[in-house]
Amino acid sequence: MKINNICCIGAGYVGGPTMAVIAKQCPNIKITIVDVNEARIAAWNSKNLDELPIFELGLADIVKETRGKNLFFSTEIDKAIDEAEMIFISVNTPTKTYGKGKGMASDLKYIELCARQIARVAKQDKIVVEKSTLPVRTASAIKSILDNVGNGVQFQILSNPEFLAEGTAVQDLLNPDRVLIGGDESTKEGEIAVKALVDIYTEWVPKNKILTTNVWSSELSKLTANAFLAQRVSSINAMSEICEKTGADIKEVSKAIGMDSRIGPKFLNASVGFGGSCFQKDILNLVYIAKSYGLNEVADYWEQVIIMNDHQKNRFSDNIVSTLYNTVSGKKITFLGWAFKKDTNDTRESAAIKVADNLLNEQAKIEVYDPKVSEERIYADIANLNTRSAKENKTLLTVKKDPYQACNDAHAIAILTEWDEFKNYNWENIYNNMPKPAFIFDGRGILNKEIIEGIGFIYYKIGSGN
Ligand code: NAD
Ligand code: UGA
Repeated sequence: MKINNICCIGAGYVGGPTMAVIAKQCPNIKITIVDVNEARIAAWNSKNLDELPIFELGLADIVKETRGKNLFFSTEIDKAIDEAEMIFISVNTPTKTYGKGKGMASDLKYIELCARQIARVAKQDKIVVEKSTLPVRTASAIKSILDNVGNGVQFQILSNPEFLAEGTAVQDLLNPDRVLIGGDESTKEGEIAVKALVDIYTEWVPKNKILTTNVWSSELSKLTANAFLAQRVSSINAMSEICEKTGADIKEVSKAIGMDSRIGPKFLNASVGFGGSCFQKDILNLVYIAKSYGLNEVADYWEQVIIMNDHQKNRFSDNIVSTLYNTVSGKKITFLGWAFKKDTNDTRESAAIKVADNLLNEQAKIEVYDPKVSEERIYADIANLNTRSAKENKTLLTVKKDPYQACNDAHAIAILTEWDEFKNYNWENIYNNMPKPAFIFDGRGILNKEIIEGIGFIYYKIGSGN
């Protein structure tokens, strides 16, 4: 079966880049990305490519190349579903904020809404692809909704989790480590559906990197991959605290262990804590699934990854307070970076938010500079915590467009995101415009200790005991 028309529901960080890359690599397939969020769709259709809702290196060029040819962004969801042979569901699956499983389980209401809409609209057989990250066995719920409308339409459900990382989304999509497709190959129809999706990826991904499994393995592999990655960060962060107590240096430790080919060098950067929309949500979901099967030791094991991450963020802000003579009330602390990692404008679950909240509780005055994150976004992130009034937030926290201005008169600078540009600032100038002693708290370990201390700063580097 050859696919000519795809619909993707959800024009977010995953739906947008993923479909743009399929459109680029498969010019004969018409792809329509739909969303309930009209502003987001309007931004994707914006003439000015700087106004696309998502910043990813290389994405604007691909959108420029494909948009209006075989890639379309629309709010006409029913129409796109009706016309498509294959429908990707790429909507958000946040942690539940109410009811049973509150604070842990995935909220699947958007997924269910999509399934019901597909069921209502579809007049011909469709392949439905889970692109969102979902609890294992969600496909059976989707199938049950789709199969019980009684309009005679046949649905095949595939799981095709996405492994892209933000900041490198386009490269990850063009050269994925693997593509995972879960389907029911025990039936003829299931086999045809899996092959239809394999054929799309084969246009640019080597066959040996396209892995097919049963649906449950595919769903669970996605949660497992994120849990392992986050666990690595929590493991290295746990060691960073021991380094600080013992005089060891986490960079040296990372290098030493990473040269063991069984461990490998990637994902061993100590930090102020991992952020991003998925690690925490997916591990909480895994913990919830384990608990729901009565697997309490398994649940506790994975929960520790989150506990360690929260500890890392809190100890970073605690250290700022204790180093600044146990009070930051009225003192200006400059945040360099707000995004959860470099090269993205995404701030979801960014460590900066929690660190800022802790310091604002201590009545610090925070000024933030981030090369890609808007003032509006920063205020929204702080407001979402509901810790204090919007007025108080505005009094205590300001956002600057110029990093040097942001650093002027600061008692301390905290580096929260590893943006490359921070390494090349004129640190001497910055030092000269700060009250003394001038402090830097490097939550990403990106500055050169000798140079920074040579200028005169008191320098704290995460994971460095000297
Ligand atoms: P997102 O919030 O950026 O985008 C989701 C979009 O879906 C939103 O624009 C929302 O308006 C839309 N939507 C929700 N319900 C809808 C409905 N019923 N009809 C139409 N549109 C609807 O989310 P995201 O970051 O793209 O993540 C999507 C999924 O992919 C999640 O399950 C996430 O865990 C997973 N994932 C995310 C990443 C990542 O880097 N962000 C990577 C891999 C997997
Ligand atoms: C992560 C995974 O890497 C993707 O494979 C996955 O598809 C995605 O989650 C998802 O499911 O959403 P992402 O969150 O975009 O991608 O970014 P990462 O590069 O994984 O970084 C996550 C967080 O960990 C960031 O805050 C980063 O700064 C932190 N991190 C990462 C460290 O602190 N140290 C490291 O060594 C690596």
